[in-house]
Amino acid sequence: MARLSDAFIDDLLARTDIVEVIAARVPLKRQGREYSARCPFHDERSPSFTVSPNKQFYHCFGCGAHGTAISFLMNYDRLEFLDAIDELARRAGIEVPRETRQHNENPDTRDMYTVLDEAARFYRGALASGSEAAAYLDRRGVDASIREQFGIGYAPGGFSALKDALGTDPRRVSLLERTGMLSKNDRGHVYDKFRERVMFPIHDRRGRTIAFGGRVLKAEDSPKYLNSPETPLFHKGRELYGLWQVRQANQNIARLIVVEGYMDVVALFQHGITQAVATLGTATTPDHAELLFRNAPDVYFCFDGDAAGRRAATRAMESVLPRMKDGRQAFFLFLPDGEDPDTIVRNEGAPGFDARLADATPLSQFLFDSLAEDGINLATLDGKARLAERAKPMLAQLPDGAFADLMQQRLTELTGVGARASAPNVHVPASRARRAPAGNAPRRSMVRGAITLLLQRPQLALELQPPYRFVALRQPGIELLTELVATVSARPDIGTGALLAHFEGREEAGALQKLASLDLPGDEAGWRLEFIDAIGQLDRQTLRQRVDELLEKQRDGGLDAVDKAELRELLQAGGNATG
Ligand code: UTP
Ligand code: MN
Repeated sequence: MARLSDAFIDDLLARTDIVEVIAARVPLKRQGREYSARCPFHDERSPSFTVSPNKQFYHCFGCGAHGTAISFLMNYDRLEFLDAIDELARRAGIEVPRETRQHNENPDTRDMYTVLDEAARFYRGALASGSEAAAYLDRRGVDASIREQFGIGYAPGGFSALKDALGTDPRRVSLLERTGMLSKNDRGHVYDKFRERVMFPIHDRRGRTIAFGGRVLKAEDSPKYLNSPETPLFHKGRELYGLWQVRQANQNIARLIVVEGYMDVVALFQHGITQAVATLGTATTPDHAELLFRNAPDVYFCFDGDAAGRRAATRAMESVLPRMKDGRQAFFLFLPDGEDPDTIVRNEGAPGFDARLADATPLSQFLFDSLAEDGINLATLDGKARLAERAKPMLAQLPDGAFADLMQQRLTELTGVGARASAPNVHVPASRARRAPAGNAPRRSMVRGAITLLLQRPQLALELQPPYRFVALRQPGIELLTELVATVSARPDIGTGALLAHFEGREEAGALQKLASLDLPGDEAGWRLEFIDAIGQLDRQTLRQRVDELLEKQRDGGLDAVDKAELRELLQAGGNATG
């Protein structure tokens, strides 16, 4: 995909008022320089969500949610990136660069969507004209409104019902082939892939049909379900059946229930549980996990109670661990042998199913239970050590935050072992640590101060003139400061949110976010002086560092002509001065 340039995005954000965007969706209260609200991304009583008009970013002290107007729209309105861009561009009256649009509107892609849409309509028509599929759905209790909501249809028998109806010219036949609707036999003969099946269209996040699943009518036919192959429009590891319907049915999605089958989703909806989605015959992938949590804070995974179900649950757990930011919760529900959500909700109704959900196993418990599964005896030291050893790589995947801390605590309770090594720290090689003079602490906080100011007022970096001496200083945080200055120089319109996004996913991200959220005393003019002064001091420290180096070299073995010239120059430039 043609990528939007950073410059375009920075400009778009600079011309967007984040307060206006958020206030249109969440009631904001003015508080000093910032606005606050109850966080829309987690459940809370007192407001810890703040929006800063100056920094043009939002941040929640409770759950850690943060970002720009773009990420707010993606998370709150659940828009895709390009759709969020479109929305903001429309508000700001800016044109989105053409290459990206063209990609969105590639005529070939557009025609593939169209032909799939026509296929869905064709199948719906076939279902309506009194097929045996209608009787089948009647028997399974799927009523007319649910059939319509899910666009359920019927693929007639014969070998070319669809091909005859839609493949009216070679180009259209080719479109049907590329969307996976046709099969080819050994002799090159092309025919309908789906025949005599109840058809479930699979929708993307904008409600467009991108694939189908088809179920046989008779128990003796196989395979029971046939799915569209992977196509340019359909990647099953990234899609969730029913998500479109969930988003249509719910203003606010408090929870998502992940089930195995098409009919499970449909049956749950039929009984009023409109938050169910299904993976498409695959394990839960990390892409699924991201998609799930982007839509709801609580996710319930339903599995069969058998060994295969537990294996699938373990896979799901592994996919969600890295995504367990604070404010998110995952639960695991194991169903009795021979049951699935469809049969449960039929037999027990929505209240029965809800009661089971309320009783589901939280991720924390499931994790420790499954680690302790095969015969670890926690009464022994050896057992405790083994559990701690197994838990380590799992817990290491959790993002920093309260949840990770609680899991760590739980492990310590169970085993007496604290698996997490000391907090990640900038590694200072011994030789440097030795050389660092006393009074190191105030220097480090100077770097920290400069970083904080830069995060909150990125344009301060533009006040600096290269060459930047301080980049050679051996002190914790200097590399980060350098990267910040370089990033702002390359993207002069960048705001706090985008600057944080640049560090997203890195070890430093959490710390930077905290610094960006500090409420600094003082005003613009004061911050500017403070920043310039801090950089000036760091520059001088860099000179002194080099002078010390040269002096040490002089003692150890002597300086050559170039070294001597440099030393003389440095001493003149003030490298020996205190400050
Ligand atoms: P199940 O075999 O558990 O069927 O498959 P089900 O969902 O209970 O279906 P009904 O109630 O008999 O109609 C669960 C899911 O696994 C995939 C499908 O996505 C199905 O919904 N599957 C199953 C296939 O892809 N192919 C198959 O042959 C069977
Ligand atoms: Mn079933």
